[in-house]
Amino acid sequence: MADDFDLADAYAVETPDDNRDLYARWADTYESGFITDNAYRYHLGVAGAFLDAAGPDDGPVLDVGCGTGLVGEALRADPACPGPLDGLDLSTEMLDRARTKATADGHPVYAELHTGDLTAVLDLADGAYGGITSCGTFTHGHVGPAAFDELYRVARPGALFAIGVNPDHYVAHGFEARFAGDVAAGTITEPTVRWVPTYGAGPHVDQLSPVVVFRRR
Ligand SMILES: C[S@@+](CC[C@H](N)C(=O)[O-])C[C@H]1O[C@@H](n2cnc3c(N)ncnc32)[C@H](O)[C@@H]1O
Repeated sequence: MADDFDLADAYAVETPDDNRDLYARWADTYESGFITDNAYRYHLGVAGAFLDAAGPDDGPVLDVGCGTGLVGEALRADPACPGPLDGLDLSTEMLDRARTKATADGHPVYAELHTGDLTAVLDLADGAYGGITSCGTFTHGHVGPAAFDELYRVARPGALFAIGVNPDHYVAHGFEARFAGDVAAGTITEPTVRWVPTYGAGPHVDQLSPVVVFRRR
């Protein structure tokens, strides 16, 4: 049963409680099933977009909706990744998997892992982070552009964002409009949008997803 989870289950999530329930059951097989079966590569595109724009002072970095830690592993595989790197997720079971991840030289991928809900107030200090990444989380219908109120709060001025958004949600769920409004308000720099491959196999092999890169002003 657990191996049967797929994108349809992820897209059916409507509330934070739905999400906790799904990923509590999916965490053990998320990588051996879905990620492997679909040759998932979205995390490489998000990490690459972040690293291509980052300088040494763009840490600490927060990976939001870090899940089992695939973005963190990709970031920490590059010695140029500014550190330290923390993760945040709603699912304690997914965070338990992320906690097991180590770099090639044996250090934990994530310095700190926070349980948090992107639809609520985060228990993180104002301006704590110099970089924010996210992959596969602005995909669930319940995580909309309002989450950026809190992400901007925990980002310090100049912080670098590289945020993956579901391609069907980017315009329809108001992300593009939110970022345009934030540029107009002087909150962020003009975003660049890089379209990256999401999967290397499976039914959605041709899907490209937008990774939105900008800085907090
Ligand atoms: C499809 S997984 C992606 C995980 C990882 N970033 C990756 O690329 O493999 C989506 C993750 O977002 C998390 N998530 C969903 N809604 C969330 C919310 N409201 N707050 C925090 N995390 C959330 C889920 O628990 C899950 O771990």
